[in-house]
Amino acid sequence: MIGIDALGYAFPRHYLPLSALARARGAAPEKFERGLGCVRMAVPHPAEDTVTLAAAAAREALATGKVSPADIGLLIVGTETAVDHAKPVASYVQGLLNLPADCRVFEIKHACYGGTAGILTACEWIASGANRGRKALVIAADIARYPLGSPGEPTQGAGAAALVIAADPRIAEVDFLHTGRHSRDVHDFWRPLSESDARVDGAFSLACYMEGVRESYARYLATGGEAEAACDALLFHMPFARMAEKAHAELLAAARGPLEAESISQDFERRVAPGTAIARAVGNTYSASLWCGLAGLLHAGDLPRDTRVGCYSYGSGFCAEFFTLRMLTPEIMLPSVDALAVRQEIDVATYEAWRGLRMQNDGWDLPSDLPFAFVGRVDEVRRYRAAEPLSS
Ligand code: HMG
Repeated sequence: MIGIDALGYAFPRHYLPLSALARARGAAPEKFERGLGCVRMAVPHPAEDTVTLAAAAAREALATGKVSPADIGLLIVGTETAVDHAKPVASYVQGLLNLPADCRVFEIKHACYGGTAGILTACEWIASGANRGRKALVIAADIARYPLGSPGEPTQGAGAAALVIAADPRIAEVDFLHTGRHSRDVHDFWRPLSESDARVDGAFSLACYMEGVRESYARYLATGGEAEAACDALLFHMPFARMAEKAHAELLAAARGPLEAESISQDFERRVAPGTAIARAVGNTYSASLWCGLAGLLHAGDLPRDTRVGCYSYGSGFCAEFFTLRMLTPEIMLPSVDALAVRQEIDVATYEAWRGLRMQNDGWDLPSDLPFAFVGRVDEVRRYRAAEPLSS
């Protein structure tokens, strides 16, 4: 059996209420909060970037799972908001966490699908026997960014999920042998190398995402996977929390044909809604989004052993995959998720000022409570301040 042995998360310590953003942009707050399902948007301080979020999530996974850094033989970071065109975020994380030199270390990119690609690759690495008893650390980390005032702006967010993948896992088995994939070369969402904000063809991106739901599920069934009705919970990639509602309806229509609205809504409340809490609180975390859904589900509780969870991963460009998890442990301590309740609210002026500062080298006060902080560039080398390294 192969799967998730330990989990960790990291989110920015600040948030902007979407009602405040709506007022500033002249939009109806109900459009953001009900129409998109976005209530709060996580806003990273300029000292937080993809590296610091990834390192903090990985640190939590290793610490809460009591996994020794020496046991890690494969380190993959899935991200679409890396900090360098050549040096992978994974190498920064290796340094900040003091991970062993006898480790394969790389970054993987496919928009929001990158984290899932890393996790399934890690499962296959372990199944092949090439791991020789060691574990993989896979991190999905991103900071979503769209132009100010654009339709995508209220869906921004930031966060990281870190998963230790191992044989005889403690948290969940990943059924990597029954997965359905669907991919195509399209321009639904992309970010040219010279730009820091994503470009998006909104309506087309929604259509591609839905095509992925139908086709990946059909291919999953063709591999012998059990029908979605056998799943006790369903997790979807959430570019905004309301998308889970649309995706769930699309999946049910593809699997069962037309259903009464009332029965779709009851099924949504039972199997999908518990996994949407983090997306509502932090926004789009791109590659981490699906895996933040898992944290939301765990936090909502009531996941007895053998609970089957259907997962739909989507990354623009695009690649979609449907697969399942089987839960093994009902209770997992995740301090990062508890910390979401005590974040600090900021106003629109601060959010806009921090966006500007992120593009600069310095000029911000360094928060003392961050486990890892970006402190600026020296000769174009990014410098970080790290918490005490974990002992091997
Ligand atoms: P928009 O055009 O501003 O919004 O952009 P809208 O007019 O479609 O309205 C959204 C919803 O709010 C609608 O609900 C409205 O009716 C409702 P629906 O009809 O869909 O049920 N609404 C209201 N509700 C209550 N009170 C009101 C009110 N007014 C309107 N007063 C769009 C929406 C998603 C296109 C935009 O936010 C966007 O471009 N987002 C970025 C792209 C995106 O998220 N695409 C999703 C699929 S692609 C994906 O998931 C990949 C991605 O994560 C990237 C990656 O892979 O790396 C993005």
